[in-house]
Amino acid sequence: MLLKVANLQVSFDTPDGPVDAVRGLDFELAEGQTLGIVGESGSGKSQSVRALLGLLDSNGRVSGSARYRDTELIGLSERELRRIRGSRIAMIFQDPMTSLNPHLRVSTQMTEVLAQHQGLRRRAAMSRAIEMLEAVRIPDAARRIRYYPHQFSGGMRQRVMIAMSLLCQPDILIADEPTTALDVTVQAEILDLIRDLRTRFSTSVILITHDLGVVAGTCDHVVVMRDGEVVERAAVGALFDQPQHDYTRRLLAAVPKLDAGSTN
Ligand SMILES: Nc1ncnc2c1ncn2[C@@H]1O[C@H](COP(=O)(O)OP(=O)(O)OP(=O)(O)O)[C@@H](O)[C@H]1O
Ligand SMILES: [Mg+2]
Repeated sequence: MLLKVANLQVSFDTPDGPVDAVRGLDFELAEGQTLGIVGESGSGKSQSVRALLGLLDSNGRVSGSARYRDTELIGLSERELRRIRGSRIAMIFQDPMTSLNPHLRVSTQMTEVLAQHQGLRRRAAMSRAIEMLEAVRIPDAARRIRYYPHQFSGGMRQRVMIAMSLLCQPDILIADEPTTALDVTVQAEILDLIRDLRTRFSTSVILITHDLGVVAGTCDHVVVMRDGEVVERAAVGALFDQPQHDYTRRLLAAVPKLDAGSTN
C-alpha cells in the first residue's frame, strides 16, 4: 500500500479547551489510484492531510499512524517531513498564493526547487521547469516563466502551482479544494489537467472537495467525513448507486447533476 492511515487523531488546544478535529481516521491509498475525501465544511478534511505532512498550526497535535511506503510519517522530524513534502508527497491548496512567493519570479521558484531536491544546475533546471509549465498547458511557457505570480490569472496560477508540485515527480499529489476559488469553466479545465497529469507522471492523488460532482468524474474511491470521522467509504460507482449513509445521501442531493455521463 502506498499510504495507509490508521486511527489518525488531530486535536487543537484552544482557550476554550481541546477541539477534536479528526477522531480516528482510517484510509488507504493504493498506487495509481485517486482517492476523494469529501465532507461538509469543518469535517476535518484539510487537517487530516495537513497532519500527515506536519503542516498543522502550532496549537495542533496529531497521533495515530500514517505509513507512506516503509516510512511512518507521524513523529518524523521537521527536517524529514520537509524532504518528503518537497519531493515525495506534494500538496496544492485552494489558494496558490499560499505556496507561491509573490516576490520571486516563477522561474526562480521552480529552479530553486530543482536545485534543492534534485541537484540540477541552472540551465537544466530552467529547461525542466519550462517543460513542466508546458505539461500543465501554460501557453508561451518559455516567456511566462519569467513572470511573477501576480501576473498570472487565477486559473493559470493554479497551473503554476501544480507544475511546481510535480517538479520532483512525487508519488502522491494531495489537492485540497484546488478548484473552489475558480470559475466553473476553469474548474473543469484544472480537473481535466489533474486527470491527465496523474497518468502521465504516474502520480497517485488525494482530492479533497465538498463537491461530490467533482468526485464522480475524477476519483476511484471516496471517503466521506463528518465531524472528524469517516461515515462511509466506497468505490465511486457504489457510492453514487447505493449511498449507505443519510449524510452521504444529503451530500449527493446537493450535487446539481449527478449523472457524470450526461451530455449537458
Ligand atoms: N488552529 C486551529 N485551532 C483550533 N481549531 C482548528 C484549527 N485549525 C482547524 N481547526 C478546526 O478543525 C476542524 C476541522 O477543520 P478542517 O480545516 O479540517 O475542515 P475542512 O473539512 O477542511 O473544512 P472546509 O471544507 O471548510 O475546508 C474545524 O472545526 C476547524 O475549526
Ligand atoms: Mg479544508
